[in-house]
Amino acid sequence: MERVIGLDMGYGFIKANDGREGRRFPSVVGEGNAGNPMSFGFQKQESANDIRITVGGKTYFLGDLAVRHSRIAHRGLSATRAEGDDIKILFLGALSQFCRESMNDFYVVTGLPPGRMHMADDLVARLRGDHTVTRHVGRNRQDLSIRLENIEVVPQPLGTFWAEVLDNRGQLRQDSRLLGGKVGIIDVGFRTTDFATIVDGEYAPSWSRTVPIGISNAYDTLSGALATQHGLERETYTLDRAVIDGQINVSGRRVDITDLRDQIFGEVATKLLVEVQSLWQLAEYDAVLLTGGGGHVLERYLRPQVPQCTLVNDPVTANARGYFAWGAYQTQEQQPAAQTGSYSGGDAVNQPAGTSDELQDASGGDRA
Ligand SMILES: Nc1ncnc2c1ncn2[C@@H]1O[C@H](COP(=O)(O)OP(=O)(O)OP(=O)(O)O)[C@@H](O)[C@H]1O
Ligand SMILES: [Mg+2]
Repeated sequence: MERVIGLDMGYGFIKANDGREGRRFPSVVGEGNAGNPMSFGFQKQESANDIRITVGGKTYFLGDLAVRHSRIAHRGLSATRAEGDDIKILFLGALSQFCRESMNDFYVVTGLPPGRMHMADDLVARLRGDHTVTRHVGRNRQDLSIRLENIEVVPQPLGTFWAEVLDNRGQLRQDSRLLGGKVGIIDVGFRTTDFATIVDGEYAPSWSRTVPIGISNAYDTLSGALATQHGLERETYTLDRAVIDGQINVSGRRVDITDLRDQIFGEVATKLLVEVQSLWQLAEYDAVLLTGGGGHVLERYLRPQVPQCTLVNDPVTANARGYFAWGAYQTQEQQPAAQTGSYSGGDAVNQPAGTSDELQDASGGDRA
């Protein structure tokens, strides 16, 4: 039996959910080695966020482990996501965390930014099929076989919509106010922000787009300011903690960066508002959902201009949870599982932004 996994492959963080638990790790891939990376450290043994896998004879560190240990660590997803095999390694690394047996059959629902949906077929072609992955935990090695027959690629922010209108078993919340009217989603990510519009439950590509503005813009500005003010050279991927805590260590001293941070985030929010206002007639929107890890930090700047906007519950993982819920919804409806390949957009009314016509036929729109 295929297991459904929701996988949100962000430029900043990979988020995954199998309906029971979620995982999140930085989208960083580094060269690894097969030995134990902690042999001389005093830190506790590898944590759940330490991912080490071997694929095709090469060993990789992923996530936090790559940030700490790899000589060559880089954000795994380039702007076009075409760079090398990183996306495949991150994909398999995330899935390896959900393998309970040596043979695993997954139905993966994942997203691409609305502006990059044309790459869906290529992504599916690269990932589909049978994969062999060795997972390293301490000194142990486990050989895993991962079969990916069904991969469904959807416009990224729809995950947040599904997380709101479907429950965690994939049942439609009939009372959701979001199933009618015009709903906007603003997904503020690490490198990009996605805007998506859903009208009466249907995805509307014309009012959906991706802009290259994200939290990393703030990080770049911040790292420039830190270099000037404190002579501190920091790679942006090491700044997450400092930004969340509002302080940074300089020569063993803690320096408060909250004022600097807030000013920089205000500037990013202003740029985003310009984009929102040029894409949407905000007065027409019944609800605007703010999501993504950047939603947390930008909410207070956006709300005065976008009064109908609400920060969703657990915005960082909302897409991944929604992808899982969508997969569960399709499976339980006994549909021919997901269309493998690109997202076609639905024409169903009062459906949770469905992907296919057959959904409507089987259920008649009544899914009590
Ligand atoms: N609780 C939080 N407080 C402040 N910042 C946060 C919080 N959680 C996440 N962030 C920041 O939000 C940023 C975006 O996170 P998110 O996981 O949404 O990005 P992503 O999906 O990887 O990026 P993209 O959507 O561009 O591909 C990260 O840089 C992270 O540091
Ligand atoms: Mg994202």
